[in-house]
Amino acid sequence: DKGGWSSFMAKEITEQPEAVANTVRGRVSAGTVEIPELAALGAERLQTIDRVIIIGCGTASYAGMIGAYAIEQWARIPVEVQLSHEFRYRDPVLTDRTMVISVSQSGETMDTLMAVKYAIEHGAVTVSVCNSQSATIPRESDAAVYTHAGPEVAVASTKAFTAQITALYLIGLHLGRVRGTIDAQTQADAVQQFELLPEKLREAVESHDQIAQLAHWMADSRSVLFLGRHVGYPTALEGALKLKEIAYIHAEGFAAGELKHGPIALIDHGQPVFVLVPSPRTAPLMHSKVVSNIQEIRARGARVIAVVEKGDTSVLPYADDVIRLPLADVFFEPLLQVIPLQWFALELSTAKGLDVDQPRNLAKSVTVE
Ligand code: BG6
Repeated sequence: DKGGWSSFMAKEITEQPEAVANTVRGRVSAGTVEIPELAALGAERLQTIDRVIIIGCGTASYAGMIGAYAIEQWARIPVEVQLSHEFRYRDPVLTDRTMVISVSQSGETMDTLMAVKYAIEHGAVTVSVCNSQSATIPRESDAAVYTHAGPEVAVASTKAFTAQITALYLIGLHLGRVRGTIDAQTQADAVQQFELLPEKLREAVESHDQIAQLAHWMADSRSVLFLGRHVGYPTALEGALKLKEIAYIHAEGFAAGELKHGPIALIDHGQPVFVLVPSPRTAPLMHSKVVSNIQEIRARGARVIAVVEKGDTSVLPYADDVIRLPLADVFFEPLLQVIPLQWFALELSTAKGLDVDQPRNLAKSVTVE
């Protein structure tokens, strides 16, 4: 049941405030994060972890990339992210001190399941971040951290993505607390961000009308680029993937700093570029770097669509369109920034008369390797 929406994807985009609230529920209290499923592994085991590898495919891998920044920051454990189907072919170094966190909406993706089995065989601690209750991957893993985002029907993942990021952040905060690597204030600040998140997500969902107009003018775009820095980088990758998946438009995401090392050659007159601008309040250095990137591409004729936090006027002279989002700490920005990108893909797909929920050649869950 689409609940009155034109597509499951539209419905699922609007469900993100509740999805994320459901991921958090029962896992925070009195300013601290406690995930019962992780606690069951025993604090000692969590304290000995010296390396985290996050695995997943597609959207799940981008959620993993975003989660990696936060887990490394909060738990002070080196974290790397690998595509599930690449993982075992590189003969990864795994010990009983390695935690392998798999991210999968369906919990049935064969590439990810095979990678998890490989990790189990090689003695790693396996944690599954999964949305579908009692799927194979969480059943095989040492611990299952369900996202509780509710069923996701559209092939293009939306609410599962924001819920996955949330779950990974909770894991990072739990590990940080158990390992003594974050202070009570940092923990309490993050918990407060979680509490404020549903309302901010609701506001971000309201970017729809502005995005619909933008998409209307851009319906015949042949290529769209996305730029971001830090956690904005995987968010840019996710924005590009959405566009490929459902609007069949060539799209690429780049780390903003990488632009000058090659991709800037792509910038031609009228080339649309979405730029995810970090907050000038909480990340002033990154912010100024990204604003310079905008100036560089604008000078070469790009059509700049800047996604900024409300009140950031620094990009106004250089942006053709500005999408304003509520204020949030750096780690929480991707959860908001991805929403206009999801709407954009949906609206371009619709404008092209395509099937938003069932794109060609794709399946919701790929159960072959
Ligand atoms: C792909 C889907 O095949 O699998 C993507 O089309 C999805 O939308 C990816 O992100 C991973 O799926 P899952 O269920 O493992 O998260």
